[in-house]
Amino acid sequence: MQLERENKQKLGDEMFELKWLWQNLEGNRTRYIVAMVLSVVGSSLMIINPYIGQRIVDTFIASDDAVQNLTQERGLLIMLCLGMIGFSLLRTGLAYFTTMQYERASQNMLYDVRVYLYNKIQGQDMEYYDHNRTGDLMTKMTGDLDMVRHSMSWIIKTIIESLTIFVAAVIYFFTIDAVLTLWLLVLSPPIFIVANIFAKRVRPMYIDLRERLSQLNTTTQENISGNRVVKAFAREEFEIEKFTDKNVNYSQANKKAALVWLDYFPYLETAAQAFNVILMLAGGYFVMNGRITFGEFSAFSALIWAVSNPVRNIGIIINDIQRFFASLSKIVEIYYAKPNIANEHNATKMRRYEGRIEFDNVSFKYDGKEVLHDISFTIEPGETIAIMGSTGSGKTSLVNLISRFYDVASGQVLVDGVDVRKLELDELRGNIGVATQDVLLFSDTIDGNIAFGDPELPEEQTIEYAQLAAAHSFITKMPEGYDTIVGERGVGLSGGQKQRIALARALAVQRPILILDDTTSAVDLETEEHIQKSLRELHFDCTKIIIAQRVSTTAEADRILILDNGRLIEEGTHAELLAKRGYYYDVFMLQNEGIGRQVSAHGQK
Ligand code: UTP
Ligand code: MG
Repeated sequence: MQLERENKQKLGDEMFELKWLWQNLEGNRTRYIVAMVLSVVGSSLMIINPYIGQRIVDTFIASDDAVQNLTQERGLLIMLCLGMIGFSLLRTGLAYFTTMQYERASQNMLYDVRVYLYNKIQGQDMEYYDHNRTGDLMTKMTGDLDMVRHSMSWIIKTIIESLTIFVAAVIYFFTIDAVLTLWLLVLSPPIFIVANIFAKRVRPMYIDLRERLSQLNTTTQENISGNRVVKAFAREEFEIEKFTDKNVNYSQANKKAALVWLDYFPYLETAAQAFNVILMLAGGYFVMNGRITFGEFSAFSALIWAVSNPVRNIGIIINDIQRFFASLSKIVEIYYAKPNIANEHNATKMRRYEGRIEFDNVSFKYDGKEVLHDISFTIEPGETIAIMGSTGSGKTSLVNLISRFYDVASGQVLVDGVDVRKLELDELRGNIGVATQDVLLFSDTIDGNIAFGDPELPEEQTIEYAQLAAAHSFITKMPEGYDTIVGERGVGLSGGQKQRIALARALAVQRPILILDDTTSAVDLETEEHIQKSLRELHFDCTKIIIAQRVSTTAEADRILILDNGRLIEEGTHAELLAKRGYYYDVFMLQNEGIGRQVSAHGQK
């Protein structure tokens, strides 16, 4: 925990992030170091050809004995020329191999980190998902990760190579003529200052840019997945506008960052050119007074780009580095996000619970807002409990505590007499079958969806559970039966059909605790009757908690709990609660009145 806190404080600290990167390079470190060393070697070789050039000029072109040398030392000339070609070949071959090592190391790392992050995100608790937007997580998993990879393979390579050539050229220059070299280096301090100011200005812009991209992605993602709602409300125009807004926003931020570079570009470009001017003036003067040879001058001239190019590229490099850190800190953030409710995935042998559930003075909060107040009740193994209450009264929140999707604020939830916080999470959840209120089916076959909790489920059993959930008959009428693929979020199925598949999925795992959150709200009364019968006759022992609004569903439960505004206001059997003439009685009367009216209306026909 202490370590966690320390790590959190360090987020945003660049050294810490780089250290993180280094740690994650494990397994590819040697390859990466080899790549860096090869970069250094490869770029040092760059000075060999100018050196050969210098020899050729001094011996065969600008020498007083040039003509004599040409005839007498033809062998040397050929050797030097072949050397030039040979070194070029060697250098390019080396560059090929080096780039490959960078790519391999960074791709491997990207792969490992992606797997880790994906597992990390999967392992997060509900609270994390309440607070993190899907679009944002997607940006981190794709764009940010790739930015980091790009930096490791391309930017670091560019920096190392530029620096090496720069240093090699400067050393070589010093061996030729120290004074001329110092004249050239006069330009370095101002360039450094300008680049530094630029980096400081552009950094926050890239952090901002990164944030806007994530907003753009979030808007896009929400619009695509919520497209039906948008259409239903004929709000396409509005949504397009909203998207355009974010798009413009992002584009403007991009332009702004690019324009900053333009502010500095003239200075840096002038500085880069100034190297040539100084070389011409000082170098020319030194050649004339015989301080350096013409060949040496040509070596300077052939290598001056090694000094001026890094200056030209410094803007691009700084931009990339800033983007790299903006992305890296986002990834490190996921990496160290620790769920409050962590699943250790300990491979212990699963116990099958009895299914006894107890709430002991439980209160619960979402972000500090208390939605369940001091709730106590007990459910014995095998009992069927119905929970009823107006919308927003806390029913879903209450059952979420049993699976430990969230933790209580005070009190405790006990399963088989043990506080759920002390139970192994995999085991706890592995003992509960849930059909959530918000049904989500995967883009898979119906068969695959029903067998989601137990991929080994034999086909006959899939059918059996579909029958129990009153889903078999509509499934067999579908074009491919159980092999029909239901799209993202179960497109192509009615609400009641989706609910029944979700019910079959919850039943198929045969857990000792079954939680059904409003699972039959969208099915007709006749189908519901069938489902209730199935639930009564389940072939495995099971404690059932059924959230429902219909008295027809709750009537047969062993006990009914009534929630109101996060409080447990009534508890008892159907008959007891009717006798009490409270909330339940009112609901009963209201619903029966309705049925009474329907019946009399039919009667009149
Ligand atoms: P519930 O979601 O537990 O209510 O929210 P419910 O009884 O199941 O409602 P229905 O019948 O499905 O509609 C209880 C309270 O908790 C708040 C809600 O605003 C509500 O007041 N809540 C719920 C949150 O603050 N955050 C959430 O993520 C969910
Ligand atoms: Mg609910």
